[in-house]
Amino acid sequence: MKEKARQARAENRIIGLVPTMGALHDGHASLIARAKRECSPVIASIFVNPKQFGPSEDFAKYPRSFETDCEKLRQAGVDALLAPEAAEVYPKGFSTYVHVEGLSEKLEGRSRPGHFRGVSTVVLKLLEIVQPHRAYFGRKDAQQARLITHMARDLNLDSEIVVCPIVREPDGLALSSRNAYLNREERKAATVLVGALQAAKQELGAGHRDALHLASTLRRKLDSEPLAAVDYAAVVDAESFEPVVRVSCACYVLLAVFIGKTRLIDNLYVEPKAPGSDELVFHL
Ligand code: PAJ
Repeated sequence: MKEKARQARAENRIIGLVPTMGALHDGHASLIARAKRECSPVIASIFVNPKQFGPSEDFAKYPRSFETDCEKLRQAGVDALLAPEAAEVYPKGFSTYVHVEGLSEKLEGRSRPGHFRGVSTVVLKLLEIVQPHRAYFGRKDAQQARLITHMARDLNLDSEIVVCPIVREPDGLALSSRNAYLNREERKAATVLVGALQAAKQELGAGHRDALHLASTLRRKLDSEPLAAVDYAAVVDAESFEPVVRVSCACYVLLAVFIGKTRLIDNLYVEPKAPGSDELVFHL
């Protein structure tokens, strides 16, 4: 892959990279489509990264559908696939990790200790192997995208990190490989996440900017679903991921909710229409 990428760079081509863990869905497809519009060649990776799963998490049962994924990548016009074995990525004696301080410890990082160390380490390795001009990530995993953007800046990486919108099912549920774990009843209940974000959006639209007010709106909605157990519901600054008191700058409304045993995340991104403006633009 290094040789292939080196050759593309020598031909002055713009390399795009779309890292994934497979079990591909239309969310992944949207990243590939964006990359195809902006880059050639487009390289995808599939690697279920053991180092970003906790010991009691779902690494063993994470959905794997390699053949179907390859077909989808072919259809999407991906030029090359990087799909290494764990033993290649982490050879015997592997002991070098990247740790993005601060961002790695809060919210997702607090609920999933070690998760972001695994993410930043594997993404740095992928970026090093391919050295893409652009690498594409979904806003579905907002903290992950922020972490990677921050790492790329701190380590002077040459890759531009592009963050793409969330792709949703017709009823609003954000696409996720983990949605496959939901039974019929849970699948219905899972729309409570987007429902809560819509309620927050409505409150913000009506002029409520107080984070405590928004938090109680989120809680009320989420608590109305018996199958839902809230891990966190937070309103944070879009750069630092620190809680805000008022929504007056770019912010994320972040949710992590268990539906039965399945942990789902979703978010609403809010930014002022213009610098200093009181009017907000919403990205759900
Ligand atoms: P994975 O969960 O497979 O997601 C791969 C990419 O697809 C991520 O950037 C994710 O944010 C994006 N994505 C997932 N669901 C999406 C949706 N509904 N809409 C838009 N984009 C979506 O995230 C990972 O893999 C891994 O942590 C990885 C970055 C590959 C490192 O191992």
